[in-house]
Amino acid sequence: MNVQPTLSEYVKVCELSDVPPGTMHPVDVAGIRLMIVNIEGTLCAVDRICTHETADLSTGFLIDSEVTCPLHLSRFDVRTGTVQNPPATMPLRTYKLRVEGTSVYVQL
Ligand code: FES
Repeated sequence: MNVQPTLSEYVKVCELSDVPPGTMHPVDVAGIRLMIVNIEGTLCAVDRICTHETADLSTGFLIDSEVTCPLHLSRFDVRTGTVQNPPATMPLRTYKLRVEGTSVYVQL
């Protein structure tokens, strides 16, 4: 049986207006540093600390669905967290996200 999580299992992280298309919005929730990314109107949630060292990817460069680390230029697909090029080798953690009204919620 496929059970959908209820909204109560999600944590509000920001408003839709905080994340215009083509931007990354950093949020800290429950000790987790993640970012909400808007790819042409589709939102996703992903860890924002690079898995290579500790650069904050929300200060990097977003082109389509790829973020480039500002420190050593690894690229990650923010939809899946997968690494696109070295030196990073470990993927980013991604999170389920839903929008209710004008608010954005993430399942931690
Ligand atoms: S800290 Fe991101 S690639 Fe090195």
